[in-house]
Amino acid sequence: MDALEAITSRRSIRRYTDEPVTETELEALLRAAMCAPSGFGQRSARYVVVREPDTRRMLSEVSKHAGPVAGAPVAIVVCGDTTAERHPGTYFIHDAVAALENLLTAATALGLGAVWVGVHPWPDRMDAVRAAVGLPEGVEPIATVAVGHPESVPVSPDRYDETFVHRERW
Ligand SMILES: Cc1cc2nc3c(=O)[nH]c(=O)nc-3n(C[C@H](O)[C@H](O)[C@H](O)COP(=O)(O)O)c2cc1C
Repeated sequence: MDALEAITSRRSIRRYTDEPVTETELEALLRAAMCAPSGFGQRSARYVVVREPDTRRMLSEVSKHAGPVAGAPVAIVVCGDTTAERHPGTYFIHDAVAALENLLTAATALGLGAVWVGVHPWPDRMDAVRAAVGLPEGVEPIATVAVGHPESVPVSPDRYDETFVHRERW
């Protein structure tokens, strides 16, 4: 699958088979995430890989939309390390979000299924994730990605919308 096909066929996958995600697959996902661009090249995104079912259950309870984390063989909490920022309070969220999209695209390319589970900027969700995975001071949870082998893969509609595009001026 080429890059454009992975990007255009990616869908949120919330149900998974029992097949485990191997360490090789996991490393490929993390390698892709770490290739994302970052502000000033500061690479402030950090990752907490969670296989342990009790921790995944805690992560699945941080919001009513986090359920898929409980049923996935692995979850990756994508964080921003504010202590790694060149200018504090600027690009740590952007860095993490770029990494998140690479992770989702890579999952699709590998035939895995993944879903972005929102954490930032909701204070209650952030506190619950911090507690579940023991984040140190200065490391902010941005989102959790649940990853597994998809139970089924929905078709991807063509989402191109010319009305979203403004040429030369809005
Ligand atoms: C910032 C953000 C937060 C999201 N949070 C959740 C979430 O908490 N739970 C969930 O199931 N999906 C979540 N999603 C996935 C969206 O629901 C999904 O991308 C959207 O419905 C489009 O569907 P698709 O990903 O299959 O194209 C989130 C996506 C983004 C970008």
